[in-house]
Amino acid sequence: MKRLEGKSTLITGSARGIGRAFAQAYIHEGATVAIADINLERAQATAAELGPQAYAVEMDVTNQASIDDAIAAVVAKVGKLDILINNAALFDLAPITEISRDSYERLFSINVAGTLFTLQAAARQMIAQGHGGKIINMASQAGRRGEALVAIYCATKAAVISLTQSAGLDLIKHKINVNAIAPGVVDGEHWDGVDALFAKYENRPIGEKKRRVGEAVPLGRMATAEDLVGMAIFLASAESDYIVAQTYNVDGGNWMS
Ligand SMILES: NC(=O)c1ccc[n+]([C@@H]2O[C@H](COP(=O)([O-])OP(=O)(O)OC[C@H]3O[C@@H](n4cnc5c(N)ncnc54)[C@H](O)[C@@H]3O)[C@@H](O)[C@H]2O)c1
Repeated sequence: MKRLEGKSTLITGSARGIGRAFAQAYIHEGATVAIADINLERAQATAAELGPQAYAVEMDVTNQASIDDAIAAVVAKVGKLDILINNAALFDLAPITEISRDSYERLFSINVAGTLFTLQAAARQMIAQGHGGKIINMASQAGRRGEALVAIYCATKAAVISLTQSAGLDLIKHKINVNAIAPGVVDGEHWDGVDALFAKYENRPIGEKKRRVGEAVPLGRMATAEDLVGMAIFLASAESDYIVAQTYNVDGGNWMS
């Protein structure tokens, strides 16, 4: 039996990368998925590739009107919202002495405020529907421990873990489960950008940081987006109804807690 049959899902930042892989897997499990992304053109292309259960929604998680419009678009299209994945995020890297206020504000606005206010809008919709729901936030191993060059991103992901705990505790009385996934290092366009930043600040050839982080994973390689799909389906399905406010590491053994 399909585990997400008929479930209406919104995934932020799902035009590419991990969000796209989640959308594909959810569709396979019977869900309809709003490919909600700031890059509408790419969201439309992704939705077309994923088939009739996918549709594109333009969404900027830093803008409250855009968040409200995206939720309204899902309700207009499918009649309800059952599952939200807060997946959109930005990365940046700089030594402490070079961090800019602009980078700080951009990352907190997308990764933290974007997660909180999208979660809030989705929760209001789910409460109004009266049937509970599932909210999954994308954290990171970066939220478990600071990293010398990654202060802002690490702080945003620590905030996501904390918000998951508070929202999880507050919303479970409405049968809304809020949990998070903390991936390790996941190959894809995102990590190509990370690798280029490390090349700049650690004076490495392009590709070397990626190779090293892959080798350092106890399992022996970087993750693919597909490696995260099992946890994302589990946390959206009835199998996880008793799980509240948790952040699960899916990282090949990088972090233990
Ligand atoms: N790739 C990794 O190694 C890794 C590791 C740990 C955690 N994560 C987390 O997983 C999630 C997905 O990562 P990814 O690698 O697929 O990232 P990605 O950069 O490939 O994709 C991010 C998507 O978010 C969209 N986006 C950016 N700003 C937005 C905004 N303001 N509103 C709406 N959409 C916006 C982008 O257009 C893009 O499609 C992120 O939360 C990331 O922090 C990734």
